Amino acid sequence: MIGKLNHIAIAVPDMAKASALYRDTLGAKVSEPIAMPEHGVTTVFVELPNTKVELLHPLGENSPIAKFLERNPDGGMHHICYEVTDILAARDRLKEKGARVLGSGEPRIGAHGKPVLFLHPKDFAGTLVEIEQV
Ligand code: CO
Repeated sequence: MIGKLNHIAIAVPDMAKASALYRDTLGAKVSEPIAMPEHGVTTVFVELPNTKVELLHPLGENSPIAKFLERNPDGGMHHICYEVTDILAARDRLKEKGARVLGSGEPRIGAHGKPVLFLHPKDFAGTLVEIEQV
């Protein structure tokens, strides 16, 4: 059912430091920080030949990654995003298999302007999973 790995999201306490790490130490192509107030994060996109890494830093109050950074002050992998072709069919199958879909269970428009859903980390080997319809 799942297709390509779309991105890996890493929450970081210091965006400038994390950007420099990916750009200068790892030698990757790194975007400027992009504010996404509707998602409560500032994002830096790290482009790799086969996928993307997204560096996330909290923006505004009630950022969805604020608690994660409280628990992981050095930062850490926040979620992994897999592509699906039909998000409603994917959701129904996942629910049928006993996986918990977070929130209302209805897809929301994610950071790339496409419908996304998040799946409970306890049901996926301790990893928050995002599925995105492409
Ligand atoms: Co994501």
